[in-house]
Amino acid sequence: MTTLESHELREVTGPRAGVLHLLRLRRNPIGHSAWLREHYGSVYRMRVFGVEMYTVTGPEAFERVFVNRDKAFASGPAWSHFIGPFFHRGLMLLDFDEHLHHRRIMQHAFGTDELRRYHALLQPHLRRHLDAWPVGDPEPVRLQRLFKDLTLDLALEVFVGVELDAVERERINRAFVDAVRAGTSLVRRDLPGGVGPWSRGLAARRVLEEFFRDALPAKRRDGGDDLFARLCVAEDDAGNAFGDDAVVDHMIFLLMAAHDTTTTTMTQMAYRLAVSPVWEERCRAEVRAVTDRAGPDPTYDDLLALTDLDLVMKESLRMCAPVPSIPRVATREVELDGYRIPAGAFVTSTPYGNHFLAEVWPDPERFDPERFAPDRREDKVHRLAFAPFGAGVHKCIGMHFAGMQVRAVLHELLTRFRWSVPPGYELPVDLTALPYARDGLPVRLEGTGD
Ligand code: HEM
Repeated sequence: MTTLESHELREVTGPRAGVLHLLRLRRNPIGHSAWLREHYGSVYRMRVFGVEMYTVTGPEAFERVFVNRDKAFASGPAWSHFIGPFFHRGLMLLDFDEHLHHRRIMQHAFGTDELRRYHALLQPHLRRHLDAWPVGDPEPVRLQRLFKDLTLDLALEVFVGVELDAVERERINRAFVDAVRAGTSLVRRDLPGGVGPWSRGLAARRVLEEFFRDALPAKRRDGGDDLFARLCVAEDDAGNAFGDDAVVDHMIFLLMAAHDTTTTTMTQMAYRLAVSPVWEERCRAEVRAVTDRAGPDPTYDDLLALTDLDLVMKESLRMCAPVPSIPRVATREVELDGYRIPAGAFVTSTPYGNHFLAEVWPDPERFDPERFAPDRREDKVHRLAFAPFGAGVHKCIGMHFAGMQVRAVLHELLTRFRWSVPPGYELPVDLTALPYARDGLPVRLEGTGD
C-alpha cells in the first residue's frame, strides 16, 4: 500500500443507469463485465441497491481487497447493508479483532474430527430422505427443489440436532426461508401490517432467535454431535468460549451460509453430470468402487477418495460460483490499480471475474474438470484464480463441511439413481441474487437397477 497522492490517481467512472447494467450483468455476467471493463477500466462504479458500488476486477485486485493485510476494507458494514437486520452478529458481519476472536473459537467446531461426526450424523438421515424421492415419476422432477428441501432437512438434523414434529419443522423452515429471502427484497423497510418480504424477514429473525434461545439450555446440558452442540462447547486455545447470544447469532447465520450455497453446488453438479456422459460414467464407476470396497455406507474418509467427483465439484464451482459477488466497505481512502477509492465506498468483486479469464483457463466456457487434475492445475496460475470460497480472513469456514455434504449427497444419488435431461438442454441460471436455476432443473429420475 503506497501513500496516497490523490492528484496522481485516476477517478473511477462508470455508467449512469446502474440498474440497467446490473440487469445486463445478470443476463450475461462474463460478457457484460468484459464490456464494462473495456469502457470504464479495471475499476468502475454503478449505483445499485441504494449505494454507489465500486467493482474491481481480476485476481490481483481480488487479493488486495479480500486478503486485506492493511485492514483497508471491512466486511461487516458491507454485508450489513444487505442482510444485517436478519443475520446480524454472524461471523461474516464481524471485523478485525472481534472477527478473529470469534473465528478462532468457531474453528473448533469445523475440525476434521467434527466433520467425521457430522458426516456420521448426516448419512442415515440422507438415506432416509432419499427413500422418499419420486423415482420413476412420468413427470420430470425439479432437482433444485429436492436439493433445497434436502439441505433444509439435513440442516435441522446435522446443524441443530433436535427432534421436531412436522408442524414445528415447517414453522422453523418457513422462518428460515423468509429470513434469507428478505435480504434480496426490493422494498427495504418494515411496512405497516408486517406485509412484504422485509417485514416477514424481521418476524422470521424473531422466530429463529426464540427457537434457538429456548433450545439452548438443553443443548448445553446434554451436548451432542451436531453443530449447535459443538458451538456450545467450542473453545479457542486460550479457553474462550461463546456466550448464549453469540451461539444463537452464529447458528442463525450458519444455517443461512450453508443452505443456498450447497443447493446451488449440487444443482450445478447434477446438471453437469446429466449433460456430460463421460463424467457421469467416471463418477459412477468411482462411487461403485467405493461401495464395493467399503459397503453401502461410506465413511467421511471414503468420500475424500472420490477424486473424479471432486474435479466435477471444482469445475462446477468455477463455472457457477454460488456467491457471485462479495462486498466490502473501504475504511479509508485507498488506491486500487491506480484508481482512487474514497473512504466509506462500497467495493465489490466477483469470483466470476477470475473464473473465466482466458489467460488462466484455456477455453473458459468449456466444462473441463481435468483442469484441476494434478498434471494441469490451471487454478495454480494465480493464487486467487479460483476463489469460490472467497479469500483472506473471511474465507469460508464451512468449505470442508460443504465438500463433505455435497460428496455424501452425490455419492448416494449416483448409487441409487440415473437422471437425464432432453438433448440440447441448457440450464437457465438467474443471477438476480444468488444463482438459481429458473426452471428448477427438470429431470427424469430413475433407479439404477443395481
Ligand atoms: C459450496 C458451498 C459454499 C460456498 C461456495 C461458500 C462461499 C463462501 C464465501 C465466498 C464466503 C466469503 C464471504 C466474504 O468474504 O465476505 C463464505 C464465508 C462463510 N461461509 Fe461459506 N460457502 C459455502 C458453504 C458453507 C457452509 C456449508 C457453511 C457452514 C457450515 C459456511 C459458512 C460460512 C461462514 C460462517 C462464513 C463467514 C466466514 C468469516 O467471515 O470468517 N459456508 N462462504
